[in-house]
Amino acid sequence: MLVLGGNNSADLAKSVARKCKAKFARITTRTFPDGETYIRLPNVVNRHVVIINSMHPLPNDSLIELFLAWHTAKELGARKITLIVPYMAYLRQDKRFHPGEALSNHLIAGLLSADAFITIDPHLHRIHAMKEVFKKRAKHLTSNALLAEFIKKNIPESIIMGPDGESYQWAADIAKKIRYPVVMLKKKRFSSRNVRILVKSKVPLKNKVVVIVDDIISSGHTMFEPIKQLKQLGVKRIYCVCVHGIFAENALKRLKNLGAIVISTNTISNAVAKIDVSSLIARCLCYSR
Ligand code: R5P
Repeated sequence: MLVLGGNNSADLAKSVARKCKAKFARITTRTFPDGETYIRLPNVVNRHVVIINSMHPLPNDSLIELFLAWHTAKELGARKITLIVPYMAYLRQDKRFHPGEALSNHLIAGLLSADAFITIDPHLHRIHAMKEVFKKRAKHLTSNALLAEFIKKNIPESIIMGPDGESYQWAADIAKKIRYPVVMLKKKRFSSRNVRILVKSKVPLKNKVVVIVDDIISSGHTMFEPIKQLKQLGVKRIYCVCVHGIFAENALKRLKNLGAIVISTNTISNAVAKIDVSSLIARCLCYSR
């Protein structure tokens, strides 16, 4: 097995390779003066090639990098290609919210239909399984057990909060795993940067530690709204824990300024990526070798 790390996930890929006792190499990439992407692979002939790259930052460039890498590996004689995209972008556009919009999720998935495809905690909302958008075999892993373990060890006796109905698959599942109380909120989204969330809880929150759990923190607005209200309700400490820390538009700084402690996994590398998913990926790869 040869593990190739893309621009966004080289450290994670290296760690996966080490755990799988496989060879590791970086995909050589360059940007041409006009913005096009150049990529070059090492020798892949007759190897099981595992390409690991998350689609953040620069989701469009990352997509081209993944697309060029797996097609090139195929052309150059790789025996099998597994694409691992720890954070897969474009999945939230799973519906034509307005006439004429692109259904990005299945179109992008169509460009990444390698022999095997693996992602972590994809945003499955209106679609429920990867096979609804991928033509070939696609598998998704969940980091819930890792998040639950982290919370149990580092944030004991806290209350888990899901900021919206979609976060149920993470917040409620994690709370169940560690037997912590859970409060689920409802969100109304008006635009990318405009959401309304009302904190309503049967569980008393005053002087408690609350952990808001979601799959993605992007602009941060889904977190900002409950944080402001939780502070008014006298909550002692607020944590924001997510799988994919995108932190667009200075969201991490803004969350910290609001007094929240933020933690994510390393599906996307960032300053608060304290939960390592390499063992999750390695376990899956070793079993499917
Ligand atoms: C969507 O429902 C997702 O689960 C997240 O809640 C959402 O992507 C977070 O986005 P933002 O940080 O921009 O509010």
